[in-house]
Amino acid sequence: MPVSTAPSAATTSTTPTTPTTPADLGLLRRQDPEIAEVILGEMARQTDSLQLIAAENFTSPAVLAALGSPLANKYAEGYPGARHHGGCELVDAAERIAVERATALFGAEHANVQPHSGSSAVLAAYAALLRPGDTVLAMGLAFGGHLTHGSPANFSGRWFEFVPYGVDAESGLLDYEQILRLAREHRPKAIVCGSISYPRHPDYEVFREIADEVGAYLIADAAHPMGLIAGGAAPSPVPYADVVCATTHKVLRGPRGGMILCGSHLAERIDRAVFPFTQGGAQMHTIAAKAVAFGEAATPGFTAYAHHVVANARVLAEALAAEGFAVTTGGTDTHLITADPAALGVEGRTARGRLAAAGLVLDTCALPYGDGRGIRLGTAALTTQGMGEAEMARIAVLFTTALRAEGEDTRRVREEVRELAGRFPPY
Ligand SMILES: Cc1ncc(COP(=O)(O)O)c(C=O)c1O
Repeated sequence: MPVSTAPSAATTSTTPTTPTTPADLGLLRRQDPEIAEVILGEMARQTDSLQLIAAENFTSPAVLAALGSPLANKYAEGYPGARHHGGCELVDAAERIAVERATALFGAEHANVQPHSGSSAVLAAYAALLRPGDTVLAMGLAFGGHLTHGSPANFSGRWFEFVPYGVDAESGLLDYEQILRLAREHRPKAIVCGSISYPRHPDYEVFREIADEVGAYLIADAAHPMGLIAGGAAPSPVPYADVVCATTHKVLRGPRGGMILCGSHLAERIDRAVFPFTQGGAQMHTIAAKAVAFGEAATPGFTAYAHHVVANARVLAEALAAEGFAVTTGGTDTHLITADPAALGVEGRTARGRLAAAGLVLDTCALPYGDGRGIRLGTAALTTQGMGEAEMARIAVLFTTALRAEGEDTRRVREEVRELAGRFPPY
């Protein structure tokens, strides 16, 4: 792992830092060559292409070690000191450490580190604060809301009355006047702020004022910026929101999973909403891995990393705009960039396919006021690999070359991407 991202003494020691080498996979290869091949293939894919998916990152070898540990064997329903299973003394210690580190890192009174995912965290937050049929104001899916913010295909849209808010058609920015007007009109029980693709910081203070005016809970779904918040590169919703939901992967660079922060007065309700209301046994290997990630995120190295992620995203957004992409909101304050590639003669889905063929892996996204889809990308993984501004500028040029390339040219761009990725191995 590059020096600039080395999170702790553990990864700077002389022990090997590659989490899973082909040699380590020897046993699995002998027992189950089919799955071993899949893992080896995925390791190769992750290292010889560029991972620009905004929600992805490379966890540290220490996080992977905790994830692959025998803590995976342990059943632990309940909470430390109050489990339904025996033999939980040691995993209790892991969960206490994770909770202590999370509360210290984010300045929260209470943390629940058991949600299996970001969606599970949001489900538990709703379960703690709402009743089926309650009205909730959240960003509409067409503007960047998550499935759990009222999609008809999700429990949220089925069980609650969601009122969507959007962004200003001109600027692409949150329209707080519209949010206030909708809040006054619909008197929601909760207001959700947070998005899968909004590249700017929500004004949590304004959201709090609106929630207070209409007597609503404020739920911040900070799945995307949580790592930036940990590193001091984005404002924190903790002082303003009643409940903060997040994922522990993405910029935060932990294992796949969720977490919830809240004040002490809501602690019991949140804990009961996670277990036993919406989940069963906690995944103790993941909780130990979350503890490791929180420990890493508390280091000066991670603070530097979080700021570097944003600096890289700004450079990449500017360079993409110079190449002709219509960058939503005109830039970014975060790790996230959304853009319309229409001016380059392609729609988002076609762009994703051509970029993927060149080894540039990213997502499409809804465009607030466009006809087609846009592209969504982020700089968390590239920055973990140690890439900087020069690489961002080069990647923007590779984007347009890849979009225009056909046949032999596509293969040439693919080789360039392979060469660039090869100079910045993630492990
Ligand atoms: C804002 C937001 N909320 C919730 C989630 C759900 O997280 P998960 O995929 O872990 O369920 C995401 C994931 O991208 C997200 O961006």
